[in-house]
Amino acid sequence: MSESEFRDFHTLESYIASQQGMHPQSRGVFSNLLRRIGLASKLIHAKVQKAGLLNILGARGVINVQGEQQMKLDSLANEVMKATLRWMPAVGGLASEEESDPVVLGPRDEGEGEYVVLFDPLDGSSNIDANIPVGTIFSIHRRTSSGRVCDPEDFLQPGRSQVAAGYVIYGASTMFVYTTGNGVHGFTLDPEFGEYVLSHENIRIPDACTCFSANERNYQKWDDATKRFADHIRFGPDPRYARTSSRYVGTAVADFHRNLLYGGVFLYPADRKTGKGKLRLLYECAPFAMLAEQAGGLATTGRQRVAEIHPTELHQRIPFAVGNRREIELYERLVAEMDAKAKTSA
Ligand code: AHG
Ligand code: MN
Ligand code: MN
Repeated sequence: MSESEFRDFHTLESYIASQQGMHPQSRGVFSNLLRRIGLASKLIHAKVQKAGLLNILGARGVINVQGEQQMKLDSLANEVMKATLRWMPAVGGLASEEESDPVVLGPRDEGEGEYVVLFDPLDGSSNIDANIPVGTIFSIHRRTSSGRVCDPEDFLQPGRSQVAAGYVIYGASTMFVYTTGNGVHGFTLDPEFGEYVLSHENIRIPDACTCFSANERNYQKWDDATKRFADHIRFGPDPRYARTSSRYVGTAVADFHRNLLYGGVFLYPADRKTGKGKLRLLYECAPFAMLAEQAGGLATTGRQRVAEIHPTELHQRIPFAVGNRREIELYERLVAEMDAKAKTSA
C-alpha cells in the first residue's frame, strides 16, 4: 500500500468513529453497538467458513458429543448474536427470527438500555449445505418506553424510526453493509488481519434494471398486478428491460446486495390465495427498506411503503418488493390499477 492509499483507509471501527464525530451529541454508545454487531458477524463468519468441514465430519459418522457443533448454523448464529449483544449497556432488548418472544434484558441503570436490536441471525440457511452465500440482517430502534425494562411496544416500531439497519453477507468475501441514515456504506472483511475495511462508501443503486429477482416458480400464485409487472420486465418491449436478466439466489441478503450494486428489483409477493407474503417485516423487509431508501431506491408491499408499516406482531410477514425507484413506482401503479378495476367491477 502506498502512502496515498492509506489516506482513505478506514476500518469499520475508524469509519464509525469518524461518522460519530459528525454528531457531537452522540456519546459513542450507539457506535459501540454497531461495532459489536461487527464482532458478532466475524464469529458467525468463522462458523460459516467451517460449515462444510463440520458436515463432512458428520457424514463420516463421527459423532460429535459437543452440542455446539451439532447445532444448525441458524441457531448457532442466533446464540452468537445474543451472547455478543446482551451485555452491552446500550441494549435493552433483542428480538430474533429464531426466538418466539423478545429477549428482554434485565433492569438497566438510568440512561442505559435505550436501544433494541432485531435480527435475522442467518438468512438463507437452506442454502448453507450447498455452499451458497448466507447473511445476517439487523435493525436498531431507540426504545419508546422509558422504564428500566423495555416494553413489547419497543419492538413493534415502524421501519421509518430505525436508527440503523444493515446486513452481513458471507459470500466469496464477507461484507458488512450498514446505514445510520447517512448513506449506505460497505466494508469487506480482510481475512489476513480479520478487520472490516471500507470498500464501498456511499453506495447508490444504479438507475438500471439489470436484475429481476423472484422465485418465478410461484408465478401462478401471484395476483394479476404482479404477473403484469413480471411480464412487462421479462417480455415487454420497453428498451429499459432489453438487457435485464433473471437472477435469484434464494438468500434475500445476497439477492438484495447484488441488486443494490447492479440495479434491479427483488420481489417476494403475496400468495394470491392467502394474501400473505413470506418475508418478515421486522428482520428482513424493514431493514432492507431503510438501506434501499438510503441508496436512492424504494421498498413497498405494492400498496404501502414498507417503512410506513406499523407492525402488529413480532413475526409479521408482508408482501415485499424492493429495488430501483422507477420499478417500485411502476409496481405500485399496477397494483393500484388492479385494485381500482376490482372496485368498479364489484
Ligand atoms: P431464512 O433463511 O432467514 O428463513 O430466510 C429465507 C428467505 C430469504 O432469504 C429468501 O429470499 C427466501 O426465503 C427464499 O424463499 P423461496 O425458497 O420460497 O424462494
Ligand atoms: Mn431470512
Ligand atoms: Mn433466518
